[in-house]
Amino acid sequence: MIDARIGVIEERLKNVKRIIAVSSGKGGVGKSMVSAAIALTLAKKYKVGLLDLDFYGPSTHLIINANEKPVEKNGILPPIIDKIKFMSIIYFTEENPAPLKGKDIINAIIELLTITIWDELDFLIIDMPPGMGEEVMAIIKFMKNAEFIVVTTPSILSWETVKKLLIFLRENKCNVVGVIENMVMEKSIENEIKKISNYLGKIGFDENVENCIGEPSKLLESKFGKDVEKIAVKI
Ligand SMILES: Nc1ncnc2c1ncn2[C@@H]1O[C@H](COP(=O)(O)OP(=O)(O)OP(=O)(O)O)[C@@H](O)[C@H]1O
Ligand SMILES: [Mg+2]
Repeated sequence: MIDARIGVIEERLKNVKRIIAVSSGKGGVGKSMVSAAIALTLAKKYKVGLLDLDFYGPSTHLIINANEKPVEKNGILPPIIDKIKFMSIIYFTEENPAPLKGKDIINAIIELLTITIWDELDFLIIDMPPGMGEEVMAIIKFMKNAEFIVVTTPSILSWETVKKLLIFLRENKCNVVGVIENMVMEKSIENEIKKISNYLGKIGFDENVENCIGEPSKLLESKFGKDVEKIAVKI
């Protein structure tokens, strides 16, 4: 049963050149903002998809202001928002406020991956839920060539948890593109990160970023967006 579904997912993703899962051991470090901004930046030059797999708190539809709904046509065609093909678990859960649990999460991930028609993409960016739960395991299992970008803040509280995710990914032989340090003020842990992973760069704390939510072009022009642009060329 499982194997057959993996085959369907592989078929759906066969024309996607790179799958990048934006993750973190920690919640609230900026995964959703970073994944949306990376997708918007790369979409200037490349064919890009954005998939929101955060079952606990899907947010990227708000960041890029996705008002259009997917269309059913031998599968589901993602709407195109600001040049990005966009798909989110929100389209499945919006009528049901109760968070999905355990097996239901995995089934919903499989369902989403099985029905979404991405077609040709240079990048599929995935906004992951926090932690190292079943969703991360599912990504590893169903998208064998997924690469991971890991987001941390300079806080020791974030970094200590993120380090565990990096070790977990290494143990599972996952490809890690590198670590992004977000919300940097004076203190940076660049040297600490470089000891165990590739350092993709820092994003400064931008007190105006909240005003850019729902306005993709404003987000790209913001201090936050400019920092993401410098990082995106290294992906
Ligand atoms: N560089 C930054 N400067 C200032 N605020 C930021 C920055 N990055 C993210 N934020 C803010 O931090 C909050 C959390 O960001 P976001 O929702 O992207 O994090 P997350 O890691 O996806 O959270 P969750 O784990 O709940 O999914 C948001 O209010 C966002 O606007
Ligand atoms: Mg999020």
